[in-house]
Order: sequence, then structure tokens, then C-alpha cells
Amino acid sequence: MHIETLKRLALLGGMHEQIAISSSVLASQLRTSPQTAARRLSSLEEEGCIERKKTGSGQKIRITEPGRLLLQSEYQDYRSLFEGEPVAVLRGRVAGGLGEGQYYISREGYRKQFEQHFGFVPYAGTLNIKLDEPFVPAPKRAVRIEGFRDEGRTFGECRGFRIRINGIEAAVIRPDRSSYPQTLVEVIAPVKLREVLQLADGDAVEVTLE
Ligand code: CDP
Repeated sequence: MHIETLKRLALLGGMHEQIAISSSVLASQLRTSPQTAARRLSSLEEEGCIERKKTGSGQKIRITEPGRLLLQSEYQDYRSLFEGEPVAVLRGRVAGGLGEGQYYISREGYRKQFEQHFGFVPYAGTLNIKLDEPFVPAPKRAVRIEGFRDEGRTFGECRGFRIRINGIEAAVIRPDRSSYPQTLVEVIAPVKLREVLQLADGDAVEVTLE
């Protein structure tokens, strides 16, 4: 991953608009050869981090949402290195769900692992929160929750992240195979958060990474 190249494009404004830049100009900024710069752009494009349009005189480049998220995750790493912990406070609002959390969270295979990793037995359910920004903690923060089989079904692997929600200990659980947008998180906690925090759909909450 050519994060340095991506960063340079962002510094030139590529996160907010299409920028016209030739491989040779980019090369001189990166202190590399035009061939290397061109190769890096091709691989960033293949990885879906940038979009390129050929124009009469050259090319126009824009950083995509996956590219922006990569930079943001890099930024959070530096923030934790230089500013210490905790790093992030995220704001969001309570959202309704499909009533499925209860079924998953009460599986013995998950419950045991939640207790072992987070030190609490979760209330049977997940509180859904729609955040204002994507939830992209540094990968090293993730706790791995193994998949298992139960009653002839397969339950997938997840990652868990320790958080506090309005000060109460909790964890974000994210299935490895999930089509959820990164702004939507599912939270487990030792208590029913809607009751303890008096929350209704649309209420504002504050999530801090532990
Ligand atoms: O899928 P959905 O969010 O509709 O429901 P669920 O996961 O089965 O959870 C049942 C209810 O408890 C929902 O209203 C959740 O928002 C809520 N809940 C909570 O308040 N605190 C938790 N720690 C977990 C779930």
C-alpha cells in the first residue's frame, strides 16, 4: 500500500476534488522516478483507493472513500502514538435494528468469548448506533472472536473493540463478513443501555475507544 503517495495526493487536494497532476510532477514531490510514480498510481487505482480520468493533456485524480478511510486509519495510528490514549471520541445516534442481535449475542459460543475478552456477560441484544464518522480503530485494538458451529449452523468470526458509551463499558462487535457501512456499529454491554441511559431512537450518544 502506497500510503505516502496517497498522502501526497491528499495534500494536493485530492480528497476534496479531482486534481490534475502528471506522474512526473508527482514523482518529483515523492522524490522518485516518473516510472515508479506511475506504477504507484496504477496500483492505488487497482486497489480502489483513487479514481483516474484521462484528459487531453494528462490525467485527473480523486481519492475514493476507501482511500480516505486508509488515510484516516493511518492518522489515528499517529494520533495514538503522539497523543496517548484514549484517542477518539465519536458521536452518533441510536438506531433501530432488525431484532436479530438478541439471537446472536445469546449463543453460548459467542457469550463465552465476550466474557473472556471483555470481562462481562452481555445483555442479550445489540444496540445499533449510527455514527457521524466511520468507526475505523487501529487494527491492533481488535479482539478476535472465533466462529463456531451450533445447532447445525455456522456462526462467523467477528472483531470486537472495547469502548465506552456515555461512560458505560461496552464493546463494538463487527462481523468479518458484513455489508454494514462503517458508520453503523453494533454495541454489546453488560446492561440494557436503552434502560440505563434512557435512550430512544435518534438520541445522541458519545462513543470513546478504550
Ligand atoms: O436488532 P435490534 O437492535 O432491534 O434488537 P436486539 O439486538 O435484539 O436488542 C433488543 C433491544 O435491546 C434493542 O432495542 C436494543 O437497542 C436494546 N439493547 C440495549 O438497550 N442495550 C444493549 N446492551 C443491547 C441491546
